[in-house]
Amino acid sequence: MAPHPQDDAYAASIKDPAKFWSRQAKHLIWHKEPTSAFQRTTRKLKSGVSHDSWTWFPGGEISTTYNCIDRHVEAGHGNNRAIIWDSPVTKSKEKISYAQLQEDVATLAGILREEGVKKGDTVLVYMPMIPAALIGILATARIGAIHAVVFGGFSAASLAQRIEASGAKVILTASCGIEGAKGPLPYQPMVRGSVEKSSVKPSKVLVWQREESRWDDIQEEKGERHWQGLMKAAKSKGLKAENVPVKSSDGLYIIYTSGTTGLPKGVLREAGGHAVGLNLSVRYLFGIRGPGDVLFTASDIGWVVGHSYIIYAPLLAGGTTVLFEGKPVGTPDADTFWRILEEHKVNSLFTAPTALRAVRKEDPENKFFEKRGRNGGLKNLRALYLAGERSEPSIVTMYQELLSKHCAKNATVIDNWWSSESGSPMTGLAVLPSTALDFTDHTFHPPLPIKPGSAGKPSPGFDVRVVDDDGKEIQKGSMGNIVLGIPFAPTGFTTLWQDEERFYRSYLKRFDGKWIDTGDAGMIDEDGYVHIMSRADDIINVAAHRLSTGAIEQAITTHPAITEAACVGIPDPMKGHVPFAFIAIADAPKDLLKDLNARIRESIGPIASLGGFIASPGIIPKTRSGKTLRRTLREILENGSQGEFEKDPSYPSTIEDVAVVGKAKEAVKAYFETGEGKKIKAKL
Ligand code: COA
Ligand code: AMP
Repeated sequence: MAPHPQDDAYAASIKDPAKFWSRQAKHLIWHKEPTSAFQRTTRKLKSGVSHDSWTWFPGGEISTTYNCIDRHVEAGHGNNRAIIWDSPVTKSKEKISYAQLQEDVATLAGILREEGVKKGDTVLVYMPMIPAALIGILATARIGAIHAVVFGGFSAASLAQRIEASGAKVILTASCGIEGAKGPLPYQPMVRGSVEKSSVKPSKVLVWQREESRWDDIQEEKGERHWQGLMKAAKSKGLKAENVPVKSSDGLYIIYTSGTTGLPKGVLREAGGHAVGLNLSVRYLFGIRGPGDVLFTASDIGWVVGHSYIIYAPLLAGGTTVLFEGKPVGTPDADTFWRILEEHKVNSLFTAPTALRAVRKEDPENKFFEKRGRNGGLKNLRALYLAGERSEPSIVTMYQELLSKHCAKNATVIDNWWSSESGSPMTGLAVLPSTALDFTDHTFHPPLPIKPGSAGKPSPGFDVRVVDDDGKEIQKGSMGNIVLGIPFAPTGFTTLWQDEERFYRSYLKRFDGKWIDTGDAGMIDEDGYVHIMSRADDIINVAAHRLSTGAIEQAITTHPAITEAACVGIPDPMKGHVPFAFIAIADAPKDLLKDLNARIRESIGPIASLGGFIASPGIIPKTRSGKTLRRTLREILENGSQGEFEKDPSYPSTIEDVAVVGKAKEAVKAYFETGEGKKIKAKL
């Protein structure tokens, strides 16, 4: 395949990261210029281990919110649209200009400061997809505080865990979320319950009142405050706070993500690298160049994709972000996404394959898309970005055909590979030429050809490699562990919040500090395209949400009759996978699935509910040192779901008792040949 500008840009970023990224840093306004773009460092852990590390833009000081909002207003773009809120669940729409956003963010920042929030403090955000959420997040960043946004689908217990881990000083919340067609979901029990459970007690809880379901009695004595009331009072007295710059390496936010154990990992995003890396990616990969360009990221602010491409990146570019409160289907129908594309003249759409599978199920012939396309309503769309889980080739091909027929010239489906740790796509396809790196050339360039099933080629700064279990690089086209060379690109994390030991243990130790372990498995093909095939660890992807099997097992074993369980993912036609449990008991009590799901909902949240289970003694294989062989169980279940009951799974030579594998195979066969399992198999 002939070299493409994306290949040149990538090669330059890996060859000389300092040179490449210092050019990128010039596109932002710094309160204090960094002394260099990048420095290699060494970190010494309490345990005595030293490891190689890196720091981006040392010596620099920056305000991300100044770069997202104020500089555009100062440049005369105050009347441009910053946010379009589209909420089919409340039948509301709102358009917010940069000037208006600046006013609201500065005012709330003033309130937060008066409520005692200082630079470096943590503010926890538990909010639905409404403009106040973005204002709250940006106001926190404006005063140099660190936000920790928690997804609305997590339970009070999970929220409590995150309040404690982040040491949140203040909580920003709302009276309710609106869960698709199900209607309002009051947040009060969740928030009060979590504060009660947590040993860390935030001093204030700001509540955004929504008419759909109000927070009845705001308890001032407990620190609860009426958010809109505070805003009104602050505006009447002209209370505002200016942007507070922070060091490049200071935290902008913490995002909690599932680790292999029950305890979530607090990925810390640093201010300098985040701003520089996102500013490049939103233009170069997502084609949002500035005023007039519209990005619709149909994710949630609780996930990293939402942090980057609903909130920060489109604003850094001075473009418009669409904030969507609804679901791909049922609010009111499978036309919602396409209506938004047409109505708001969206240029780039970013969503998860799960959402498109849900749309395909409701509208298998794409009647809604075709209709809008035929009427010329989708001409502004230049690319459809997919991430969060593997996109099966059939969904990529189907949408590529639709885009080629009805959207902008060269419109492309771009699968891109991400993680909470990376902060921006580690792979993808660029839509602007590499000359755009200097932002001198804003024309669209045909991206590299797509290869359905692959997540594209590495993005600038992400040194993607495939290695064997000893960390040795393996030949092109062979499956292995996907790792990254040091340094991680600027949007990537450099540590976990207040837990450098765990950072080293989780990401560097496995390959002796040489590579960063991504937890994913796959291959790089002859043309340099990266294919992400599955997780290599004990994490499952459910509807593009990352869940810890360890946390689900912990919830299951709170059942008095269950001492041992192993959780793995079972294929699901819409969500990719759903959690499934192997439980080592002889007789399952009546309504066990319902009981277990109630426990999982309480300890994690509804998004982690089990799709099924098998209960039988002696079906959980282990190594001689007692490690559960979930990967072996996963293979048996996957084979069984395809009717391949006799196929042997892989297992290590350290297995304690091979006979257990045989028993698990029999149990899986019995499961899929009768009852619930038979119904599940029929749908696959
Ligand atoms: N607040 C409260 N509850 C939530 C929630 C939220 N923000 N998000 C999900 N839930 C609940 C759901 O209501 C559901 O509860 P139930 O079991 O009581 O019905 C449960 O969690 C499971 O939700 P989900 O896995 O989303 O399944 P679903 O059947 O409700 O919806 C889809 C299916 C495909 C429509 C939905 O999963 C979807 O939109 N997926 C796309 C995900 C996405 O965009 N991810 C982006 C990451 S990059
Ligand atoms: P999260 O940290 O929640 O964003 O989840 C990150 C994980 O989602 C990755 O490590 C992958 O396992 C998976 N993932 C994200 N994007 C893709 C993709 N394009 N293809 C395959 N898997 C993906």
